[in-house]
Amino acid sequence: MYNDNPTLEGVVKVIKEERQGEVFFKESAQGLTSSDSKHFYIESYGCQMNFSDSEIVASILAGAGYQPTRNLEESDLILINTCSIREKAEDTVRKRLKIFNQIKTRKPGTLIGVLGCMAERLKAKLIDQEKLVDLVVGPDAYRDLPKLLIGAEEGEKGINVFLSREETYADISPLRLGSNGVSAFISIMRGCDNMCSFCVVPFTRGRERSRNAYSVVAEATDLYQKGYREITLLGQNVDSYKWENPETKEVVNFAQLLEMTAHVHPDLRIRFSTSHPKDITDEVLHTMAKYENICKYIHLPVQSGNSRILQLMNRTYDREWYKERVDAIYRILPDCAISSDIIAGFCSETESEHQDTLSMIEYAGYSMSYMFFYSERPGTLAAKKYPDDIPLKVKKSRLAEIIELQSKVSLRKNKADIGRTFKVLIEGDSKKSDQDFKGRNSQNKMIIFPKKGSYQPGDYVMVKVHDATSATLKGSIVD
Ligand code: 5AD
Ligand code: SF4
Repeated sequence: MYNDNPTLEGVVKVIKEERQGEVFFKESAQGLTSSDSKHFYIESYGCQMNFSDSEIVASILAGAGYQPTRNLEESDLILINTCSIREKAEDTVRKRLKIFNQIKTRKPGTLIGVLGCMAERLKAKLIDQEKLVDLVVGPDAYRDLPKLLIGAEEGEKGINVFLSREETYADISPLRLGSNGVSAFISIMRGCDNMCSFCVVPFTRGRERSRNAYSVVAEATDLYQKGYREITLLGQNVDSYKWENPETKEVVNFAQLLEMTAHVHPDLRIRFSTSHPKDITDEVLHTMAKYENICKYIHLPVQSGNSRILQLMNRTYDREWYKERVDAIYRILPDCAISSDIIAGFCSETESEHQDTLSMIEYAGYSMSYMFFYSERPGTLAAKKYPDDIPLKVKKSRLAEIIELQSKVSLRKNKADIGRTFKVLIEGDSKKSDQDFKGRNSQNKMIIFPKKGSYQPGDYVMVKVHDATSATLKGSIVD
């Protein structure tokens, strides 16, 4: 329905700047200055899935005659795609909403909408109690936006937080607003059925459902033809991807989907996130080994290194199981990098249980981790069953120890790459200098290197590493 919007394609140039999970559109639609068209501004928070959803929303709005802008003052519609995963994420959104409302006082008629997980969690409360917004739209209701907008323009408050068992937006071609023209996200499934006890996602994003495998391959092919060279397949738990062709009854699992996308073109790199330790199979690992263009990098959140805590978290694996999966990865993919998500100070965690998490960082040799202290979320299993009894000070000091150890392990791992040569996909100029390029190797490590010859973003180059910090590698192009 919203496929390929020719009026926007090719003329919209928007640069993404990531700052603590936010995206600002740095340039508005170039050449699209018609004063009578309406403009929307969208800001995204949280996981990659939210950034990907914002591109679906942008496509739907383009179909309804709205153009993107980075200029808040110029926008007729301000949208914020929100995250509920931790209390802090919600606090940030509330602060932004206050700022948007100041703009609205200066420019009455501007509409403000909350999308995503906070919309789903707080529903009408966002309109009734906080009085900050005109529209509240949950993750499965974005197709309803044009209709809700018409109502909102007439002064009605619009809300749709219906969670679907089917919606995958498979037919919508995302408008790649924040793109560097080289890498893009493809959402392959929605929702989550896991019910980890700390997590609000199953309540805000609903039941798990997988997207038509052929629509994923078609999107990947289209991106390749437009010059993209890297796609990341997104899902809360990609390993449980399972799509049944309603006509042939053929079933496609995640390993098979990986293989199908790897065949799109040998120069199209395939990445994916997030893997679940209970579901990642040897079949997936062997498929990764078989194709050079499937990146040797797995984000495999452990959450805790202690079996009792993992059970309270309802992760459905224990320490031994996780270690076995790590062993299998390094056995089948010796050059693979693994990263993790870690929560410090979950309910009733003892000091020695915390030590188990530290030792897991060493055991798994994570290249990097996303690290948090536990934040109780209303409505989750943990909030209902377990007291949030670790004092904030203890949570924070455990988190500091986790961060310190992880940065030591990252530095050690990166130093071991000095002297090695990697195939790197050029993403663009480095942040610090336009004389340098930045790009990633298969293991998802960022490498900075001086420009040379006529290489451009989207090209592959061989880079020899000569220096390393805990966050980046430095090198130079070798011919
Ligand atoms: N508190 C702290 N961290 C959380 N995460 C999810 N829920 C919570 C919570 N209540 C973390 C997990 C998850 C990542 C996306 O966010 O580590 O993998
Ligand atoms: Fe949340 Fe667990 Fe689902 Fe991840 S797998 S989204 S942590 S419930």
